[in-house]
Amino acid sequence: MSSIYFRKTFQRSFGTFPLKGEQLRTALRIALDVGYRAIDTAQSYENEAEVGAVLAESCIPRDELCITTKVRPDNFGENVLIASVERSLADLRVDQVDVLLLHWPPLGGDISGPLALLQQAHGRGLTKHIGVSNYTAAMMRRAAELSTVPIATNQVEFHPLLDQSTLLAAATETGIPLASYCSVARGEALRVPLIEELATGYGVSAGQIVLRWILQKGVSINTMSTRRRHIEHNFDVMNFTLSSLDMARIDKLGAANRRLVTRELTPFAPDWDP
Ligand SMILES: NC(=O)c1ccc[n+]([C@@H]2O[C@H](COP(=O)([O-])OP(=O)(O)OC[C@H]3O[C@@H](n4cnc5c(N)ncnc54)[C@H](OP(=O)(O)O)[C@@H]3O)[C@@H](O)[C@H]2O)c1
Repeated sequence: MSSIYFRKTFQRSFGTFPLKGEQLRTALRIALDVGYRAIDTAQSYENEAEVGAVLAESCIPRDELCITTKVRPDNFGENVLIASVERSLADLRVDQVDVLLLHWPPLGGDISGPLALLQQAHGRGLTKHIGVSNYTAAMMRRAAELSTVPIATNQVEFHPLLDQSTLLAAATETGIPLASYCSVARGEALRVPLIEELATGYGVSAGQIVLRWILQKGVSINTMSTRRRHIEHNFDVMNFTLSSLDMARIDKLGAANRRLVTRELTPFAPDWDP
């Protein structure tokens, strides 16, 4: 199983939620300056036009970028999805995105309709790759069965404080690689004594320990930050390796089962895997 995000520098994506306006422009310019070339946005973030403007002004050649966007569920309709993706492309100022995701499973859980439309978008050349987000293991298996186009990723909440071993097993079984969001658990994972101890031991920051653990699980990473120092640290995770013993110690933190994107925040979320 090889993720398209493990090409070039794309195993590290810069996430843009919930950034908008000047805060978004400043953070994204820093991220590009630091070396990020994979950028994660979504229709529901309502920042695609601003992302497009910053990418255009950067003059970075299009083939050096990996742009991911996501279709919001209220655009999953038969006569709506393709038109919504065309608007995203216009806002992003590109002819196609690199990865187009279905942001959430549809209400009721029948993924066949939106998945067929996503493949149509791919057939029309609106995206190089297709993928899903917030899918359960059962949905990953169903998507792999239904789709004639390979599913490039399932982007899910993934950090050391949440046991996602069921999804990792489904990734191996289906060949659909995972990508993380909430990768540093919005800062919570950085305050755990074991992570702090390992950071001191390896001579890196707590964030770098967490992100390195994610990469060594075979999962590509999405992180958002507004601070240059954090953005630099989050990108600079390729020059050290966690031992298998330390990987196993971090694995045990998953027993906390701390999910940040809860049912309360996202009532449309599926029944997550136990
Ligand atoms: N598919 C989905 O449904 C979904 C859901 C949520 C997010 N996402 C995507 O994934 C991206 C990342 O997720 P996220 O932003 O929710 O979570 P995250 O990256 O875990 O957390 C972002 C928060 O952590 C802080 N932070 C980041 N790096 C840090 C570091 N090295 N040290 C200390 N603090 C750090 C940032 O604060 P500072 O600004 O102070 O650094 C920010 O407040 C989003 O931007 C979005 O693109 C997708």
